Amino acid sequence: MRLARIPRPVPDDERELEPWLQRMVDFVHAETVPTTLPHVPGVTLRLAPESVPLWTRIESEFGSRPGPPYWAFAWAGSLALARHLMDHPALVAGRRVLDFVSGSGLVAIAAARSGAAHVLATDTDPLAIIALSLNADANAVAVQATVADVTAEGAFDPSHVDVVLAGDAFYDPSRTDHVLAFLARCRAAGCEVLIGDPGRAHLPVAHLRLIGAQEVPVTRGLQYVAAVGDYELHAATVWRFVG
Ligand SMILES: C[S@@+](CC[C@H](N)C(=O)[O-])C[C@H]1O[C@@H](n2cnc3c(N)ncnc32)[C@H](O)[C@@H]1O
Repeated sequence: MRLARIPRPVPDDERELEPWLQRMVDFVHAETVPTTLPHVPGVTLRLAPESVPLWTRIESEFGSRPGPPYWAFAWAGSLALARHLMDHPALVAGRRVLDFVSGSGLVAIAAARSGAAHVLATDTDPLAIIALSLNADANAVAVQATVADVTAEGAFDPSHVDVVLAGDAFYDPSRTDHVLAFLARCRAAGCEVLIGDPGRAHLPVAHLRLIGAQEVPVTRGLQYVAAVGDYELHAATVWRFVG
């Protein structure tokens, strides 16, 4: 397994953090507020009130052009998948889990809370790894967080996990085939593959079987929960990859 490890961002003694890492931890702290999720009882995430201003501040603070701050929001498909795991803990209890496209870590946290033996959370955005590590600590669960693109052929050996979780993984239509190919490799290796989705038109349903449907609270007109704002209910579904 070739994974680029990032140091754990919040050791017992914060003074041990490298300055660049401390800057990222401080940034995530400053830009988010602890938010309880009524749909996933007992889970609190650090979420941001708005997306675009935060994205602008990431660019000016870190001088790069990363993607949008997906990690600062709880996505509808992930809310549904997280709740499904907590309602059906046998899906992950005692099993080794990969939360692919982990973002805030919501799904990884739900898996850990549901009794997973080990949870590996990956995302390509380093700030997501910081955020999900802070969120895991705040929810008192152990999650191994890693910056990695596990979808590249040969980058990840699926025999290292039993269950692959993908909350809102099909958000980019141009990446559907790529994501599907990765999940198919995991399924072919014997993994249980579970997907949460908010009803995207390009979800490859021919390869999936519906196992759950929920109404999840989301920010009006969007597909995620922000720290503030009016909520509306949005249909979201949970699927099993069947090949
Ligand atoms: C729509 S968000 C969903 C996030 C997450 N499941 C949640 O509930 O917060 C998509 C996430 O996928 C991440 N991502 C995109 N391509 C990826 C890849 N190849 N491997 C891992 N993460 C990836 C993005 O950085 C982003 O955090």
